[in-house]
Amino acid sequence: MASNVQPKPVPKHIRFILGGLAGIGAVTVCHPLDFLKTRMQLRTEGTVATEHTTFIHMAKTVILTEGPLHLFDGLSAAVMRQIFYTSARTGIFTSLNDIYSKDGQPPTIIQRLGIGVVTGVVGTFFGVPFDVALIRMSADGRLPPEERRNYHHVGDAFYRIITEEGILTLWRGIIPTMCRAVVVSTSAFVTYLQTKEFFIRRGYMQDNFSNHFVSSMISGLVTTITSLPFDAIKTRLQNMKIKDGKAEYAGMLDATTKIITKEGVSSLFRGFTPYYLRQGPFTILYFVMLEFITKEYRRFVLGDMSGAGL
Ligand SMILES: *[C@@H]1O[C@H](CO)[C@@H](O)[C@H](O)[C@H]1NC(C)=O
Repeated sequence: MASNVQPKPVPKHIRFILGGLAGIGAVTVCHPLDFLKTRMQLRTEGTVATEHTTFIHMAKTVILTEGPLHLFDGLSAAVMRQIFYTSARTGIFTSLNDIYSKDGQPPTIIQRLGIGVVTGVVGTFFGVPFDVALIRMSADGRLPPEERRNYHHVGDAFYRIITEEGILTLWRGIIPTMCRAVVVSTSAFVTYLQTKEFFIRRGYMQDNFSNHFVSSMISGLVTTITSLPFDAIKTRLQNMKIKDGKAEYAGMLDATTKIITKEGVSSLFRGFTPYYLRQGPFTILYFVMLEFITKEYRRFVLGDMSGAGL
């Protein structure tokens, strides 16, 4: 962006693929943290929190009682979720960002917030079924054997959810998931791009690895704080079982009220440490990889030596 040469545009379908690849790389590394976060969010479900469990304690318990490999329960769903959801999100956001860039000027922050909302809403439809499978697969090991769902992999989870509970169950929790997706998309992309461009404009850093690292770290922290409450509600709804024909929570508002009155507001922020430890490195790995593979794509495929990334 410092030079006057405009970087060559990356085709839109390639934007989707690059986003999916960056997402898969990042999610595989971070999966155990995501798993621990889900477990902590479900820890006090239906009861009042009595003991204070840290995330280290939770990790130890899972490793000792279930085995270390169980930290990767649900990985197939997490990877599939990246293939559909993160590639959709990245493709939509970066394509719209290109469209609203005029004469080398990036879109305004207001335009970007709007792009983030659109991205989150559309991306959600691709992501929710994988979310439901993922949450349930992560939750399974904490149940007594007779209550476990024992999905073998994401395909089995889909098949059984559709046959046992109806296809609509795959979109359970769509409202909090959408709220979370809108908050995540706007927080993550907007914070990242605005911070990165701020550093470049002020001459603190070029468009290089150091800048990508610091900007994505800030983006990860902002995203964690803004999205955790939505994530907590989503987890509860997607994991809920229907007992005697009665659902535990009627919907997002009901779940929010019940959790706050029975367990306290702090329950919505439970799992902060693993969520940040997951969201932070995930955001960093995702953006650093995305910048890198986009730059290499431009270099090798488009013959664009400008060094531009995203
Ligand atoms: C990035 O750029 C800044 C200044 O523009 C420089 O101080 C820093 O060392 C660079 N980092 C890398 C990894 O090249």
